[in-house]
Amino acid sequence: MAEVRRGLGSRVTFVAVPLLKGASAKGSASTLAALQRHKLAPKALVDLAARVVTEKAFIGKGAEAMPVFNPRREKVGALMLWGLGPKEKLTCETLWRGAGALSRRAKRANAIAVAIPVGVGILADAVERWGGRAVGEALASGWEYGSYAYDVYKSSAKSSRRGGAPAKPVRLTLVTAGLSAAAERAVRNGVQRGGAIGEAVNFTRDLANAPANDLYPEALARHARSLARGSGLKVQVLGPADLRRHKMGALLGVAQGSARPPRLVVIRYTPKKKARKRLVLVGKAITFDSGGYSLKPPKSMEDMKFDMSGGAAVLGAMRAIAKIRPSIEVVGVVPSSENLVNGSAMRPGDVLRSASGTTIEVLNTDAEGRLILADALHYSKRFKPDYIVDFATLTGAVIVALGAHVTGLMSNNDEFAATVFDAGEACGERVWQLPLYDEFIEATRGQVADIRNSCGRNAGAITAAGFLSHFVGSSPWCHLDIAGTAWSERERPHSVAGATGVGVRLVMSLLDALG
Ligand code: BES
Ligand code: MN
Ligand code: ZN
Repeated sequence: MAEVRRGLGSRVTFVAVPLLKGASAKGSASTLAALQRHKLAPKALVDLAARVVTEKAFIGKGAEAMPVFNPRREKVGALMLWGLGPKEKLTCETLWRGAGALSRRAKRANAIAVAIPVGVGILADAVERWGGRAVGEALASGWEYGSYAYDVYKSSAKSSRRGGAPAKPVRLTLVTAGLSAAAERAVRNGVQRGGAIGEAVNFTRDLANAPANDLYPEALARHARSLARGSGLKVQVLGPADLRRHKMGALLGVAQGSARPPRLVVIRYTPKKKARKRLVLVGKAITFDSGGYSLKPPKSMEDMKFDMSGGAAVLGAMRAIAKIRPSIEVVGVVPSSENLVNGSAMRPGDVLRSASGTTIEVLNTDAEGRLILADALHYSKRFKPDYIVDFATLTGAVIVALGAHVTGLMSNNDEFAATVFDAGEACGERVWQLPLYDEFIEATRGQVADIRNSCGRNAGAITAAGFLSHFVGSSPWCHLDIAGTAWSERERPHSVAGATGVGVRLVMSLLDALG
């Protein structure tokens, strides 16, 4: 985890120089002068960096970083010119992203450690504007995010660094010289929070990246149990017999095509002081989605190990919650199954009886997520939630509508939807509401059974939410369709390709708002 100190430690080799795009030469020069004044960089190195900036060899675009090495052998081996984009667009989100990009750039430069001066230049301004806690949190969690790699299955992982030694993470220090004692305390606080959140996000990414032959419902439940150990969280795992007792015919229906039995994981956090509010988080955890008899084409199946990203986000959020200990009670409910085909798999046209008693016509076995969520949402009513939020890689249609950078939000309560929207803006995990009008709920009416699980191409993301709404009850509820945002096809400046861990930061931001 990142550390916070007044000055440079002895191991620091890179000092980051945060620079804005389009900043005046004077602005950049004053940041560099401040570094020198606080003894964070020697004059020779500062002069060299100033030259790079005045010659416009570095312009401070977001996610741009450039090392400038010290020609002499001194404690500060190099500066890392660090672009944070234009001033108008600077937010805690850009700091988060920027820290991720910086971490990746530093690793490529074989850095051992990086120091970010938060008491000078634009970061001092940021601390003034958004507070030390928010800045510390953004930098620490962004740094963790950028440091992530998924190489547990690479036989060469241990020798990826020159010399064959195991790759050590680059250390981050936030240097507070220039800040008041109060601001420094706030930064320290934020760094602790950001570290816990960053670690939890990466835990979620590990789960979602894990191949389905190693991560199946029972394995997921094991991860939930081990994450709870010693954390103060309580875990309960329901197996097939329990699910039958609860008459969870929808979850069992999806699971009947698989040799690996389903699970329903319940994981609870209770604050020390009696909580005023209770939030239930529900997460879809299909550990592999083949589509069932409504089989997916091979290309569409390639990444379907990630179809448990909603459940992984809920578990990751619980992990962060256990560390940060908010004042609200939180219950995680994670239904988990594979969606495969065998001789006893459900068929198109089958009717399932859900735990709520509502009967469901399975027109498309590939619309399995809403089936397992139906029973999980019904189950969550027993906790008498003040709020319900579900995360699910539910529809391809949400990707058509919103793409890879915005999560789809559908809700039965506009006020709560606005709160979740704001929480997304605050942390950078953006969401956008699609309207859940009555007509979309009507559209789910079944011919043979009460409702049907598939109702054509039009407004596919919303009719899926309409289906879920039958199982929610009256609590304010937000459904978050993360099919587009949970996976990144490509590498980004602040991140490797693969699971994004989306959802964890949003939950933490929401808890902050519900506080
Ligand atoms: N897990 C998929 C949704 C999905 C598709 C996520 C593509 C990420 C990328 C879900 O189970 C599914 O297959 N949904 C169907 C629903 C349809 C049959 C009504 C879909 O979106 O095609
Ligand atoms: Mn499916
Ligand atoms: Zn699915």
